[in-house]
Amino acid sequence: MQTILVTGGTGYIGAHTIVDLIENGFEVISADNLSRSSADSLKGIEKITGKKIKNYEIDLTDKKATEEIFIEHKNITGIIHFAAYKAVGESVEMPLDYYQNNISSLINLLQLAVKYQAKHFIFSSSCTVYGNPDSIPVTEQTPLKTAASPYGATKQMGETIVHDTAVAHPLSAILLRYFNPVGAHPSIAIGELPIGRPQNLVPAITQTAIGKLPKMQVHGNDYDTRDGSCIRDYIHVCDIAHAHTLALQLSIKENKLNNCDIFNLGTGNGISVLEAIEAFEKVSGVKLNYEIGPRRNGDIVAIYANNDYAVKKLGWHCKFDLNEMMRTAWEWEKAIAGK
Ligand code: WQD
Repeated sequence: MQTILVTGGTGYIGAHTIVDLIENGFEVISADNLSRSSADSLKGIEKITGKKIKNYEIDLTDKKATEEIFIEHKNITGIIHFAAYKAVGESVEMPLDYYQNNISSLINLLQLAVKYQAKHFIFSSSCTVYGNPDSIPVTEQTPLKTAASPYGATKQMGETIVHDTAVAHPLSAILLRYFNPVGAHPSIAIGELPIGRPQNLVPAITQTAIGKLPKMQVHGNDYDTRDGSCIRDYIHVCDIAHAHTLALQLSIKENKLNNCDIFNLGTGNGISVLEAIEAFEKVSGVKLNYEIGPRRNGDIVAIYANNDYAVKKLGWHCKFDLNEMMRTAWEWEKAIAGK
């Protein structure tokens, strides 16, 4: 049985991807030090799939501890690498922690992938690598601008490190550039668990709606967009998760070694902050308490994906629309509030 190592497996996208991998017949193990997530995700995965997932609670910057996993599991065919720090604002305050954690863990994993012939390597990248693009929608060939944060820089560097390693060694690597993952699994057994005050839009909306936050701010409505607020490509986390399964299946089927491919994972629709709030209010029936505040440093004005390549090459189609994104996010917020 082919075993897939998912790093960051107790995290938001990691947990949803493990569910999708199991539902598609893969044997999965996780490595996650729980520094930014909770082991409760494993209970949620078991509730959905009936499978107990083994999580190795190790720090991936500790190469010796990480290698123990490869010694114990001789048949790791592929690695899906999610584990990384990802808070844009925090990365500006703590750049060295971001470079040290995100880059050294990646290098350790790639060295072990080469040594133990875990040939299929899928890297969690981000639309952040595009910076502020000159034209939208962006394709995988859109030139990358200077990253707007050290977080974005670790993703740009990460893509280069994976690419150069895959070309030099018998690996088949795939870079997946997520746009804005939102929502929760329809079972509401797993979802997003932001630590502290949520930085991201949808958790800020749902926490305000449920009363955990008194009010939320729209970070600027004076941008050069149709309603003045920033535009993003919000995509349901389950659609992102399934793209990982399809990418892995493609990599195994084609077995194109010394190769690296890139896919945009976005819906292809740009939604403004105010439109997202309106969609939430319609779906939840809750009038959101928000005010217009100043712009947020480092914000991209507008970005959304051209996803033609993923649709064509992966046979990937988004199944969840904006209403489902908001509905599942709201149901999840109510579930964790015990409501
Ligand atoms: C979206 C819009 C905010 C909160 C995220 C992740 C990053 C990467 C890309 C994975 C912006 C506005 C937000 C609030 C607001 N994902 N907003 N009020 O900045 O696109 O980046 O997706 O790699 O890791 O952080 O997402 O949800 O933070 O912001 O007005 O309380 O919502 O200004 O315009 P962003 P976000």
